[in-house]
Amino acid sequence: MKKLLTVDDVSVLEIESMLRDASEFAKGKRWRPKQQIFVANLFFEPSTRTKSSFEMAERKLGLEVIPFEAGTSSVLKGETLYDTVKTLQSMGVNMVVIRHEKERYFEELKTCQIPIINGGDGCGNHPTQTLLDLLTIKQEFGKFKDLQVSIIGDIRHSRVARSNANALTRLGAKIRFSGPPEWFDESMKCFGPYVEIDEAICTADVVMLLRIQHERHAQTLDLTKEEYHQIYGLTVEREKKMKANSIIMHPAPVNRNVEIASELVECSRSRIFKQMRNGVYVRMSVLKNILETFTEEIGYENHNQK
Ligand code: CP
Repeated sequence: MKKLLTVDDVSVLEIESMLRDASEFAKGKRWRPKQQIFVANLFFEPSTRTKSSFEMAERKLGLEVIPFEAGTSSVLKGETLYDTVKTLQSMGVNMVVIRHEKERYFEELKTCQIPIINGGDGCGNHPTQTLLDLLTIKQEFGKFKDLQVSIIGDIRHSRVARSNANALTRLGAKIRFSGPPEWFDESMKCFGPYVEIDEAICTADVVMLLRIQHERHAQTLDLTKEEYHQIYGLTVEREKKMKANSIIMHPAPVNRNVEIASELVECSRSRIFKQMRNGVYVRMSVLKNILETFTEEIGYENHNQK
């Protein structure tokens, strides 16, 4: 794999291979690249999990992490994303992880030679979140085929919904969506139908909740947080109607008592903090896969001279 921008960059076989590697990392496997590798994490949108777990993964693999803070960078002086990446590449940075508010920001970086890992692009894609969600589901059920996954909440503005529905469908899972109908996106119908909230929760093996992405909304819903919770949230009453052995997932950050009742965040069905732990192992696996491809096919030293 030479880059990871969307889940379409990886085949089902590659997904399975990366999940195997991630499972090995979870069991304590060690792997280090043969040469010194420099990586920079360029986060132009807020992040706790993705940024910190990439840095954990990079340090566990012995990579040199070059500090980059968007708020003190020359982006504030008008430097473009393209020139920022070219600058780091010309200094010898071997690989970048980028989160950006612009959907498909990576289109303008096509001529950059170093591998780019997408840490989230606007409402578009979040491929490493998908891989960590897949690992969490695999650990639980041992398979994807015919699993019922309900993705509930702010579907339209969620890069997680899009990436997860795509990958899970390719792996044979059955997707349903729920949440405010105003926030269901017709373009998601190819992955599964919109259903009422109670049906979505009662029938699922995996109840996957999403935060309201206020930062991407032109208009807000005319509902209080309490009203949203009662109409579209996983309430304590709804959790009681979930199937035996079904699990709760959420990419986080969680807004407690909005999309999920606070007491359910750490209940026995919840895998929310397990997802976060898996984020480190999956990101180690993605970094390893890209480093192996580049070291074998091109060689970083020659590559960076361009
Ligand atoms: N799930 C996720 O992407 O979290 P952060 O925004 O904190 O990185």
